[in-house]
Amino acid sequence: MKMYVLNTWYVAGWSTDVTRKPVRRIICEQPIVLFRTQDNQAVALADRCAHRAFPLSEGRTIGDSIECGYHGFTYGADGACTRVPAQSSIPERARVRKYPVVEKDGWIWVWTGDADLADPADVPDTHWMVDPEWATVTHSYHFQCRADLIHDNLLDLTHESFLHKTTVGDDYIYEHGITVEVDGNVVSVDRLMPSVEAPPLYAETMDARGLFDRFHCTEFFVPNLHVLHSGITGEGRPREEGFLIKVLNGITPIDEHNSWYYYAFSRNFAVDNAQATEELRIGLATVLDEDAAALEAQEVGMRTRPEGEHDVLIAQDGGVAKARRILASLLRKEQQAAAAAVPSREPAASRRA
Ligand code: FES
Ligand SMILES: [Fe+2]
Repeated sequence: MKMYVLNTWYVAGWSTDVTRKPVRRIICEQPIVLFRTQDNQAVALADRCAHRAFPLSEGRTIGDSIECGYHGFTYGADGACTRVPAQSSIPERARVRKYPVVEKDGWIWVWTGDADLADPADVPDTHWMVDPEWATVTHSYHFQCRADLIHDNLLDLTHESFLHKTTVGDDYIYEHGITVEVDGNVVSVDRLMPSVEAPPLYAETMDARGLFDRFHCTEFFVPNLHVLHSGITGEGRPREEGFLIKVLNGITPIDEHNSWYYYAFSRNFAVDNAQATEELRIGLATVLDEDAAALEAQEVGMRTRPEGEHDVLIAQDGGVAKARRILASLLRKEQQAAAAAVPSREPAASRRA
């Protein structure tokens, strides 16, 4: 069975996805129903009625509660059953799991692990999505591939040279090396490409002709979010002076072979230019379509790969290797904690012996 890092915040959707009408999401194989209370608070509960496992997302909200569409069990925002229509008493076990939720900068984040460990302060910074100094284009995708492939894809941007030739790619990308740094659970992969042309997709919007220093810095907050700080600046000039782009990639596992991909592309140039926004929206959809097609083909490759055949990592995979190590260590820690929390099944007498 696939193991997931659960003690983390995953993007469960856009703020606009969650309304009074219940909506279902599967995150790390856990079905979750999301809805809003009357005062607009987002709520996340297990999407499985305690009575007979019917999805609550098929029901309706009544006040701050959700009513199961099968036999009418009703649950409050805390997951406790408050009404069983067919009888006056409410069974003690009639309760569904409540998930911690944070709504921030247009995203709804859900904590899938031990609720006692959930700290809203751990949700990474994504303020560019709502900052008026920046303009943002968004997309949502269901990628039919494991989340690991999306992480690898974002940590090794040499694929732009080949997969995204017509939009953001150029041979000069793979010709430049990377600097990899690790800070806690964050892996950064930085690539500076001095004295090059702007990428075709942005050159016109930036009105950038001639040579510039281009840069990419992917920050992977393992295991849920990649923030790509990229852009171009004058040759030899500080990055902050340039045309800056922040690409936020919220990656949420659905199951072993499927992932949600929540994407926001924020720019600090041509901010009020609606035509540029539309052109970028279309161009970036092309980039994401190219990624989806490649990763889905790669998923097939992974599933049919003989046991014992492994990836051949190269120097450009330095960030990939570091991130895999962090992911493995987070998984190991969660499994150890879970194993320690399971009470022994041995009878007390034999434990004493
Ligand atoms: S399954 Fe929900 S009330 Fe019966
Ligand atoms: Fe890509």
